[in-house]
Amino acid sequence: MAIALCPGSFDPVTNGHLDIVERASRYFDRVIVAVIRNPQKTQALFTLEERKEMLSEVLGHLPNVEIDFFKGLLVDFARDKGADAIVKGLRAVTDFDYELQMAQMNHKLSGIDTFFMTTNPQWSFLSSSLVREVARFGGDVSSMVPEVVLGRLKERYAEEA
Ligand code: PNS
Repeated sequence: MAIALCPGSFDPVTNGHLDIVERASRYFDRVIVAVIRNPQKTQALFTLEERKEMLSEVLGHLPNVEIDFFKGLLVDFARDKGADAIVKGLRAVTDFDYELQMAQMNHKLSGIDTFFMTTNPQWSFLSSSLVREVARFGGDVSSMVPEVVLGRLKERYAEEA
């Protein structure tokens, strides 16, 4: 059984993430969406539970996809789960340097391979951080995130206002 990890912060999940996970689920027997518990990044917008709820809702139609959390090194989580591969989306050449470095480091540490999938060009400009920023200032992100995420963004920023 081939198991893949799709790791990330998913704060929140976007249509770009969905596209990658859906496509990965066609090539692997099991896909684990691995939500990092202790990102280096500054403040999170959504709690881990909220992120998991949104992911569960939008990925519920994929029977071979599950959601889990990890902290520490991704390669340790991969070993614990018996994962064979890491799957990442590449949006543009700007992603490449860092992703290549991480893929090579992860391979050096554990022998795990990383598979890159080219992002659908429709989503190549999309990131969770930009979605948060645009939504925070009232911009329209309805075509960029699933409906459940849109609702949560509106709620969250209405609370802040
Ligand atoms: O969605 P993000 O924030 O771009 O995801 C980044 C993530 C979580 C995939 C990356 O930071 C990661 O794998 N962190 C785990 C810590 C780790 O293993 N670091 C060494 C990477 S070579």
